[in-house]
Amino acid sequence: MIRKCLFPAAGYGTRFLPATKVLPKEMLPVLDRPLIQYGVEEAMEAGIKNMAIVTGRGKRALEDHFDVNYELEHQIRGTSKAGMLASIDRILENCTFSYTRQINMLGLGHAILTGEPLIGNEPFAVVLADDLCVGYPVGVLKQMVKIYEQYQCSVVAVEEVPPHEVQKYGVIAGEAINDELIQVREMVEKPAADVAPSNLAIIGRYILTPDIFDILESTAAGAGGEIQLTDALRTQAEQGKVIAYKFKGMRFDCGSPSGFVAATNHFYHLSRR
Ligand code: UTP
Repeated sequence: MIRKCLFPAAGYGTRFLPATKVLPKEMLPVLDRPLIQYGVEEAMEAGIKNMAIVTGRGKRALEDHFDVNYELEHQIRGTSKAGMLASIDRILENCTFSYTRQINMLGLGHAILTGEPLIGNEPFAVVLADDLCVGYPVGVLKQMVKIYEQYQCSVVAVEEVPPHEVQKYGVIAGEAINDELIQVREMVEKPAADVAPSNLAIIGRYILTPDIFDILESTAAGAGGEIQLTDALRTQAEQGKVIAYKFKGMRFDCGSPSGFVAATNHFYHLSRR
């Protein structure tokens, strides 16, 4: 059973500067909700109640978002706007939040290792909130929890990307188990198109077994001088302990302006139906 979801959210979000100079990237709104709220709602749908967030300097807005604001609530009580905080109320009634800070931003792998005290010795989900996922017929994390329950090993969500885009992602290869699952044998972070083992890119959804922490501890800095989660996952893959899952749904890369605009359009059209 997956009880906890880790949200690495300490990155600088440089692609959105100057918007992200003081506003955390995860707080950028797609329509009426900040990115991180979509991620928390997806985790909640997957039956997860404990949200663990790795923040950094200047990210306090994340904590305030998942809390009550008595003054605001008092102001809108009894007005037509009173229901506008309902989605947050639902989250606060059902979930707990814990936080830790990454002091030096040494990469995604390092951010996950920083979250270890919040997770402990149990399997957990990871959501990168700037990948906004819309799953069919259920959320992507809920789909992945089901796979974890069957295979009891780490699960990474993958998507086919055009060959010229593989250099932005961790890329996997392995043996097909069926149409949607692959036993991962190989994994490369940000490969050039001509050496990439496939065009199956890992997106920002993972279920990880807790041995990943020990592996991360002994993982040296890799591509870009950062401690890469992909390098630690490769160690698990070599032991036959990583499954890649071609999720059912859509992903918007909201860490980039084009993905952000596409997500905004998607949710805007949904809201007009
Ligand atoms: P990104 O590669 O998108 O980096 O991180 P970034 O800093 O957020 O954004 P850009 O590239 O500068 O625009 C992927 C995820 O890993 C987290 C980020 O917050 C994001 O959710 N992360 C990355 C950390 O928490 N700590 C790090 O040291 C690096």
